[in-house]
Amino acid sequence: MIDVVLLKHLHVSLVFISISFFLVRFLGRQLGAGFMQARAVKIAPHIIDTLLLASGITLASIYRLSPLDAHWLLVKLILIGGYIGSGFGAMKAPAELHRNLFALLALSLITGAIVLAVIKPF
Ligand code: HEM
Repeated sequence: MIDVVLLKHLHVSLVFISISFFLVRFLGRQLGAGFMQARAVKIAPHIIDTLLLASGITLASIYRLSPLDAHWLLVKLILIGGYIGSGFGAMKAPAELHRNLFALLALSLITGAIVLAVIKPF
């Protein structure tokens, strides 16, 4: 039997670990830091983000929430899609200005997803 409170704590902790990792990798990319070549730095975000999504999907199924009924969840998932896409742009765009703008967009979208998850306005 899954402890829901524990799972929610895990989910929220993974949110903050994921964002922290994104910031460290983004700054490492901008500064050309050597640690960016480390295998762990390349693999860890995939593991963290997979666990984050899996914990979110498990929470939604425990609470029997569907994005079609819980519109906050639908919008949250769209914002998360935007975060993933702009996070990719922040790491891969050739121009430094574009990487900065993508990073700003990614942080705004993930902030929106967190606010939605907390206040669930609709
Ligand atoms: C980057 C991705 C994600 C972020 C930033 C995020 C953020 C959060 C936060 C901050 C909470 C706590 C809300 C509270 O205090 O009540 C939460 C809860 C939750 N999240 Fe996520 N989440 C993410 C991914 C997902 C995904 C992919 C799903 C489902 C498919 C999901 C479903 C849920 C559910 C069902 C809850 C519990 C809501 C409740 O207590 O009523 N999350 N999320």
